[in-house]
Amino acid sequence: MNQIVKITIDGVECMATKGQYITDAAKENGIYIPTLCNYEGVKPRGSCRICTVKVNGRLMTACTTPVSENMEIENNADEIQELREAIIELLFIEGNHFCPACEKSGSCELQALAYRFHMMVPRFPYSFPQQEIDATNPKLVKDQNRCILCKRCIRAIKDEKGRSVFAYKRRSRHVEISIDPKIGKSLSDEMAQQAMDVCPVGALLVRERGFVVPIGERKYDNEPIGSDIEKLKE
Ligand code: SF4
Ligand code: FES
Repeated sequence: MNQIVKITIDGVECMATKGQYITDAAKENGIYIPTLCNYEGVKPRGSCRICTVKVNGRLMTACTTPVSENMEIENNADEIQELREAIIELLFIEGNHFCPACEKSGSCELQALAYRFHMMVPRFPYSFPQQEIDATNPKLVKDQNRCILCKRCIRAIKDEKGRSVFAYKRRSRHVEISIDPKIGKSLSDEMAQQAMDVCPVGALLVRERGFVVPIGERKYDNEPIGSDIEKLKE
């Protein structure tokens, strides 16, 4: 039987299921912790660090840390908000994100987080990396310029034999996402769309489709990102 535990988030007492990840427990209690590499239904990896919180005084990733009795979590401390702002800015400067020219604009989680955190211009210099666009797949275009290396595509998109369609290639700062040439060739329209939806940014786009949802009507065009948007409206 599930054991219920008591935790506090920013001093507010919350109930959670023992072993549940902090992000999920917070969401169930109406508290938003931003996430990027995390994807519902897929094992968390804790790679982007945007969900960092303080747990009993220590910085931890909320998406990979299970709750336990009397855990004290800080989500809104200035130090944490500043860390998250810096992560968002770093993600912008490490890639080439030209939002107005991106098909994912308005439904991009990185762009929506930048708005939510009121980012205007990153404080760090742009690195303008040389990145390539791979348009060899019959269903998908991969634009490495926008990839934030969250691995959501690798972890979530598998073929009927359970093999990953996407993989990392190269190392360190040259690392990039590749589409398996064999498995990728037999990608169905449905899987291509899933991959585009799983990608938090505009790095994976279904070929020959654009503006299916007009600008102005996309997911974050009229509402900020976050599971607490109803509260924000109050
Ligand atoms: S292609 Fe998209 S989903 Fe895959 S690692 Fe890059 S940003 Fe993440
Ligand atoms: S969402 Fe937790 S580390 Fe990326």
